[in-house]
Amino acid sequence: MKCIRTEIIGCGHYLPSKELTNDDLSKMVDTNDEWISTRTGIRSRHIVTEGELTSDMAMHAVEMAMQASKVTAEDLDLVVVATLTPDNTTPSVSAKIAGRLGVKVGTPAFDIGAACSGFVYAMTMVDNMIRLGQIKTAAVIGVESLSKITDWTDRNTCVLFGDGAGAVIVRASDGEGLSTDTGVLATKIYADGTQYENLYTTGGVSATQSPGYIRMNGKEVFKFAVGAMSEACQEVMHQANITAEEVDWLLPHQANVRIIAGVGQKLGVPTEKVIVTVDHHGNTSAASIPLALSESVASGKIKKGDMILIPAMGAGFTWGGMLIRY
Ligand code: ACO
Repeated sequence: MKCIRTEIIGCGHYLPSKELTNDDLSKMVDTNDEWISTRTGIRSRHIVTEGELTSDMAMHAVEMAMQASKVTAEDLDLVVVATLTPDNTTPSVSAKIAGRLGVKVGTPAFDIGAACSGFVYAMTMVDNMIRLGQIKTAAVIGVESLSKITDWTDRNTCVLFGDGAGAVIVRASDGEGLSTDTGVLATKIYADGTQYENLYTTGGVSATQSPGYIRMNGKEVFKFAVGAMSEACQEVMHQANITAEEVDWLLPHQANVRIIAGVGQKLGVPTEKVIVTVDHHGNTSAASIPLALSESVASGKIKKGDMILIPAMGAGFTWGGMLIRY
């Protein structure tokens, strides 16, 4: 049956120039490369430079995506940013980006706060708006300056996170309602607010008037992440009537190689089809998926027509899955 699909027509990404290796971290806290790389798979991460803002990274990524898709600011009907580290409490990063890009006055812009699931949440909202015919072309950005809410004296958390941005331009396209269509084939988002204390920041605007630092119960996050991300994948594959064998790439939120490997094993997706960038990006929360997608497209790994399975999980807890034919 004829339908409207949300097609990704261009990707972009940005990483700050400053790199922080595990050896650098071992000079800051009591840790070492061996512990970090065996437990997490992370070897280095990028950190914003002095004065570099979340919106600056988002601009770099979205400009690259617009160039790749040959879309101008005039063409955009919506700007959405997934982040938990905005420049200011208000206005949104997306409004700032819309202004800096010079989109038509009146074009809607909003931020989504769903932590590491933010990009999957954002794409779900945008896909729904496109399928309803409310918009045709949108910029969807995931961006984080997690270094600003990292406690650099806490070895339990400071080794895990990084900064960066990824962006996609999506456009309405015609589909047949089949899994051979190009674009978003299925999405599903979830939350369980009773898990709040397993992953949170120690502050916030109304609580402490400062953003606070990330704290987590690593073991609980680990256990939950593998099960939740795998189930979200099963759900979107079921919706689209797809089996794991038909998936070209598993592109999970990049938190930790052991979580990623656990999800791949549960789904039966072989290692060579699993995209891993956490080794050189660290965990960049809402940025991790579009960053890994854009990097994989730029390197030629992901090609037009590939079936990509995308699970995410983060604070809230929030989680979700998305199936895309690129
Ligand atoms: N360097 C050296 N030792 C450390 C470090 C470090 N950076 N951090 C903790 N340790 C020590 C601990 O103090 C503890 O020492 P002790 O036994 O003397 O008390 C020991 O290492 C073991 O600590 P655990 O917390 O039990 O280590 P675990 O094997 O659980 O690994 C980790 C910790 C890597 C965080 C793991 O729980 C994990 O991967 N959790 C998933 C969490 C995650 O990736 N979160 C990202 C954000 S959420 C998201 O994006 C989905």
